[in-house]
Amino acid sequence: MILITGATGNIGTHVLSQLTGAGAPVRVMARNPAKLRTTAEVVQGDFEDPASLTRALAGVRAAFLVTTPQKPIADHDVAFVEAAEGAGVQRIVKLSAITAAGVQADSSWHLLTEQVVRASGLDWTILKPSSFASNLLQFADMIRAGEPVPDWNGPGALGVIDPRDVAAVAVKALTTEDHIGQSYTLTGPELLTFGEQIRILERVLGRPVRSVDVPLDTVRDMMIGNGMDPAAVEMSLIGMRQAIAGDYAIVTGDVAKVLGRAPTGFATWAEDHRAALAG
Ligand SMILES: NC(=O)c1ccc[n+]([C@@H]2O[C@H](COP(=O)([O-])OP(=O)(O)OC[C@H]3O[C@@H](n4cnc5c(N)ncnc54)[C@H](OP(=O)(O)O)[C@@H]3O)[C@@H](O)[C@H]2O)c1
Repeated sequence: MILITGATGNIGTHVLSQLTGAGAPVRVMARNPAKLRTTAEVVQGDFEDPASLTRALAGVRAAFLVTTPQKPIADHDVAFVEAAEGAGVQRIVKLSAITAAGVQADSSWHLLTEQVVRASGLDWTILKPSSFASNLLQFADMIRAGEPVPDWNGPGALGVIDPRDVAAVAVKALTTEDHIGQSYTLTGPELLTFGEQIRILERVLGRPVRSVDVPLDTVRDMMIGNGMDPAAVEMSLIGMRQAIAGDYAIVTGDVAKVLGRAPTGFATWAEDHRAALAG
């Protein structure tokens, strides 16, 4: 049995569909099971509720762990790993981030979550993806309406990755023996600034898409205004400054190494999401 967390999110959605498509025995842990339409078993669970983790992990061999806590701390990972060890789980595949690359000690709370997983008695694989292509979907309404989308990355280029490729690597790590003890930095095939993503999107949509430069002080105000935890905001801003400075302008061969094929390009992702972005 494989347990999937984060199954309503960007990556877990695809891990779930790829595993069920392959006929693997899958259980989903979700805060609100009614949100999911799947043939897999779905159990209610919340990282804030240890008893629910124990129930979700009973009889599980391998687990896919996605955490997105309000505060930049590792409590959810600690709770999940403790419950997994107690339930006799063998393997954990942890979704981290490229920002936990150790460029700067305080660049990502995922440095803490990775330590929790590495120090566990479980077989682990850590996935450190670059920026998801799907981040653009947060601006889908603005793009459809022809409004300018905010660009706070400026000259910072990133190896933007298709979430389906992150999920495919997770599936390999969950279902084969070859990735235990490995940490993969997952990127797309090319470095792209946000502006370059917008130019590609224009070609796919066949019409102009406007963007407007937004300073990080404005981004801070936006995040605080959205109710984000202040410590999480400051950590996000550190990551954004590093991205602008080019610290994460990295393309790796890890997707090809695991999947035996090149990663998906941003243009293909945009083509496949034309309906959501075209209006
Ligand atoms: N976005 C990027 O560019 C990027 C790049 C690299 C790494 N990452 C990392 O990727 C992770 C996010 O992955 P994602 O984008 O696939 O997720 P996501 O779309 O943000 O969704 C979060 C998932 O976690 C679930 N969840 C939230 N709080 C929970 C709780 N207390 N108990 C149980 N489940 C809970 C949500 O369930 P509900 O449906 O109940 O809300 C949802 O399924 C983060 O750790 C982030 O640092 C992101």
